[in-house]
Amino acid sequence: MCGIIGILGKANTTPLLVEALTRLEYRGYDSAGVALITDAGLETRRAVGKLSALEAALEAAPVSGHSGIGHTRWATHGAPTKANAHPHMAGPVAVVHNGIIENFQPLRDELLAKGRVFTSETDSEVVAQLCAEYIEQGLSPQDAVKACLSRFTGAFALAFLFDGEADLMIAARRGSPLAIGHGDGEMFIGSDALALAPFTNRITYLEEGDWAVLTRESHQVFDALGNAVSRAEVVVNMDAMQVDKGNHRHFMTKEIFEQPSVMALALSHYLSPDHSRIQVPEGAPDFTRFDRLVLVACGTAYYACHVAKYWFEQVARLPVEIDVASEFRYRAPPIGPRDAVILVSQSGETADTLAALRYVKGKAGQVIAVVNAAESSIAREADLALPIKAGIEVSVASSKAFTCQLTVFASLAILAARQRGELDQAGEKALIEQLVRTPQLLDAALQQEPQMASVARELARARDILFLGRGPLFPLAMEGALKLKELSYIHAEGYASGELKHGPIALIDEKVPVICFAPVDDLFDKTVSNMQEVMARGGKVLLISDAEGIERAREGTWETLEMPSCDPFVAPILYAIPAQLLAYHTAIEKGTDVDQPRNLAKSVTVE
Ligand code: G6P
Repeated sequence: MCGIIGILGKANTTPLLVEALTRLEYRGYDSAGVALITDAGLETRRAVGKLSALEAALEAAPVSGHSGIGHTRWATHGAPTKANAHPHMAGPVAVVHNGIIENFQPLRDELLAKGRVFTSETDSEVVAQLCAEYIEQGLSPQDAVKACLSRFTGAFALAFLFDGEADLMIAARRGSPLAIGHGDGEMFIGSDALALAPFTNRITYLEEGDWAVLTRESHQVFDALGNAVSRAEVVVNMDAMQVDKGNHRHFMTKEIFEQPSVMALALSHYLSPDHSRIQVPEGAPDFTRFDRLVLVACGTAYYACHVAKYWFEQVARLPVEIDVASEFRYRAPPIGPRDAVILVSQSGETADTLAALRYVKGKAGQVIAVVNAAESSIAREADLALPIKAGIEVSVASSKAFTCQLTVFASLAILAARQRGELDQAGEKALIEQLVRTPQLLDAALQQEPQMASVARELARARDILFLGRGPLFPLAMEGALKLKELSYIHAEGYASGELKHGPIALIDEKVPVICFAPVDDLFDKTVSNMQEVMARGGKVLLISDAEGIERAREGTWETLEMPSCDPFVAPILYAIPAQLLAYHTAIEKGTDVDQPRNLAKSVTVE
């Protein structure tokens, strides 16, 4: 998390830094700051809270310079205070940092013993102090940065400015992403190409361990060993970098309502032109080579993996293990050549998922990434990267990426089933038809928004909410609970319907709404029995089902929400809509910040 930007510009860079930070705010919004080389030397402006606070600070005390760096923070070490906000300065050095310097404490002790004075509680300040120490010992900025980098453990993306060196910026990455943007007599550095999109579409992605010495007219990249290396310059598609809310009040609703079209786009990427077969333009994995799939991700992407487990096991008879990346990477599970490991990540930069990828690389038969950000570290380090085609997702809580991840997984499960002889041509075509119909069903479900908003007015009063689902709707219950927690700060839990009686039923009383995802399928009657158990204890049940399900089970429920009827195979995709819109409208009712919920960040590049 944290977003960094650096600009060697032709004119005053302050407004450009702020514009880039707006595009990086998804990475954190605990504080923001800029540092510029002004006529009077290095100056910073920093403010606690969202970027608007920094903008106010800049209005109150303007600062200008042609060379500047900026930062938007998601706090790790030290509270979100002005003193802890980046950029950090020491002597002639200003620095912005994304990541964690894990050995900051011994370095800090060493520097304190040398008489250096620290002004923050962050791990990051040690970067500025150590660099300043080396410069004061007589090293050039370049040699000082090089010496610093060799002393850090942990993860970082860094941008340095040096007082009196208005045509120099040094950047480095290890573990956290960083991209160089090439302008016309200008040079940029940013956490992602999105931040640089207003200025340039010519991008060089730094690779793991790289560091770069930049001037307005030149860039020299070095690898971790200090060898000069050349990294390709790519031209990014600017259309894909458009970020606006359209006619929507929030990015979240825009992204929820985009789902019919982005799902159709994602699906068409994996379909033959006549829609009869699944195909994978990037190269189809051969699922006959594997005895097991291991799916690893965090947050919403993990729940997509959880749905995929049902699909791969039921349709392709391929055993699947799933795990959250933060547990997987340290559990050090046995992985062998007959395992395919699939890492799923919207951003492609989540630190735990990236670490899981690095753990399985070389051990697994194939390492596959299912990602939205095509140029991300996870996409680039996997053996095979499969795009989800969701387009830029800005809202911190994920929505359209989830349905697109599900779309890719549904396609891969069908492919695996065909390859493994579990599905004949007609069977493949029949499942594809269900997927092809789904965008229309999503559209129909979105039409139920007013009813969802009306139920949400009641949900907003609850202190705790339970979500239930069976089979592939169980992960949807967990995703529904996660969305609600993230957006409305109401405590919520998702349970497998049949598990309720083994503990959580003790929570039920007339104040705890219980939301049941229950499309009519083979398990419908069992879910209805679980609902009855809730209602018998005074619980208020919101039944989300199709017309038939509501007809059969509405009696005694508190509320119902009708979804279009669908084939059970695609139900997890369709039921994402009520999971998302209930959370969204509950949050609106509570007045929380929907697009940037407290304490969260979209791209979690620290452990
Ligand atoms: C953060 C976000 C979640 C997201 C998770 C995984 O926690 O707030 O919305 O699901 O990271 O992110 P990824 O980019 O790896 O899918």
